[in-house]
Amino acid sequence: MTDSKKMFIKTYGCQMNVYDSERMVETMAAQGYETTEVIEDAELILLNTCHIREKASEKLYSDLGRLRPLKQARPDLKVGVAGCVAQAEGDEIKRRMPLVDIVVGSQAYHRLPEMMNGIGKMTDTDFPTTDKFDLLPRRTGTVGPVAFLTVQEGCDKFCAFCVVPYTRGAEVSRPPQRILTEARGLVEKGVRDITLLGQNVNAYHAAGYGLARLIRDLSQIDGLHRIRYTTSHPNDMEDDLIAAHGDLPKLMPYLHLPVQSGSDRILKAMNRKHTAEHYLRLIERVRAVRPDIVLTSDFIAGFPGETAADHQATLDLIAAVGYGMAYSFRYSPRPGTPAAEKPELSDDVALARLHDIQALITRQQRALQDAMVGREVSVLYEKPGRMPGQMVGKSEYLHSVHVDDSFGQPGQLVQVRISASSANSLAGVKISD
Ligand code: SAH
Ligand code: SF4
Ligand code: F3S
Repeated sequence: MTDSKKMFIKTYGCQMNVYDSERMVETMAAQGYETTEVIEDAELILLNTCHIREKASEKLYSDLGRLRPLKQARPDLKVGVAGCVAQAEGDEIKRRMPLVDIVVGSQAYHRLPEMMNGIGKMTDTDFPTTDKFDLLPRRTGTVGPVAFLTVQEGCDKFCAFCVVPYTRGAEVSRPPQRILTEARGLVEKGVRDITLLGQNVNAYHAAGYGLARLIRDLSQIDGLHRIRYTTSHPNDMEDDLIAAHGDLPKLMPYLHLPVQSGSDRILKAMNRKHTAEHYLRLIERVRAVRPDIVLTSDFIAGFPGETAADHQATLDLIAAVGYGMAYSFRYSPRPGTPAAEKPELSDDVALARLHDIQALITRQQRALQDAMVGREVSVLYEKPGRMPGQMVGKSEYLHSVHVDDSFGQPGQLVQVRISASSANSLAGVKISD
């Protein structure tokens, strides 16, 4: 089709935005749009945004500023802002950046085609009562061996620093049957590894299902080799989910369990509703059923009121756990959150603490990676490597592994002996299919 319309989409933020962007692309594909990497060719430019930290939000405005010449040259070009900044700021975005035509909040993506046709309001930040994915077309087209699947959205936890409960709304779980149908459809298209997504994925509850039961049913799907889930909250790690890590072979030995801080005082101020001790006991229980599990977390450095002793408690917790990887962020005050009312720490102090955390995590990450050398892992090939005759895929622990295999195909699961560890990946030798 030479007369098809083109859209350019840029995704910021978390995996849920990646999933949402795919769904918006599919929605617009049903309207005759195909995606382009060349921004100048697009009739629709869509920015799917993140509000989590100030930097993430400001990035939107600098990107929008750069679109000015394009919009001036082609006034018929439509510029849309989707996602969490759209949800949080609504019409304010248009006031600040009049070149924006459409503001579509995180729960209104089904309205995108109407908006493109000039129907109805051009800013939609409503939270409808229906499952938004119900209103979006089913997933079509080709997909790789690895996919995300949103099962739960929104958050009721209200951590004192976080905008997500405002940008994504209350916790909503999708019906299990719809998730199972979507997963079967993905597997038919060649997907072998599914990561279940939710802002609080282990708070999943629908039609008598919790996350553990959902994973049990998903693991019955032939052809689906691997299941992961993210992001989980320590307070929603129920017994059956911990047990699933011990007895469901398809549930991968990898758990992202953010703790944010190792200081009880700070955890309280953050409204996390758990202590460091509670978190450490939880990890002991998970390790009791799955000793090789790789743990990852998120940390915030320089939360208001954090003392040197609080910071040390965070380092102690990291040392006690031994992480495979972790994300750490300098605290960023967000409008409308309770923590934003409190006095901030100086940049010097907060950044030095962030650096401490990152240095310790990097050491742990490298040690764990180096300890994989000599071990046998299974690798799901995702794509050819940069070298000819090489494939790249992930181990069950989510390490990237390069394997020499001239006949390898994406989606193949092979046994590999790890032979070397470098900064961000492992290399291995194929033992068997
Ligand atoms: N629902 C998930 C993660 C949500 S956001 C959870 O509860 O863990 C991802 C991470 O961003 C958070 O875990 C936190 O570490 C970080 N984050 C959120 N708000 C932040 C802020 N205001 N400043 C710095 N980091 C923040
Ligand atoms: Fe944000 Fe806390 Fe909810 Fe995670 S649990 S999304 S950090 S409010
Ligand atoms: Fe960002 Fe929204 Fe995700 S604020 S981290 S895109 S839920």
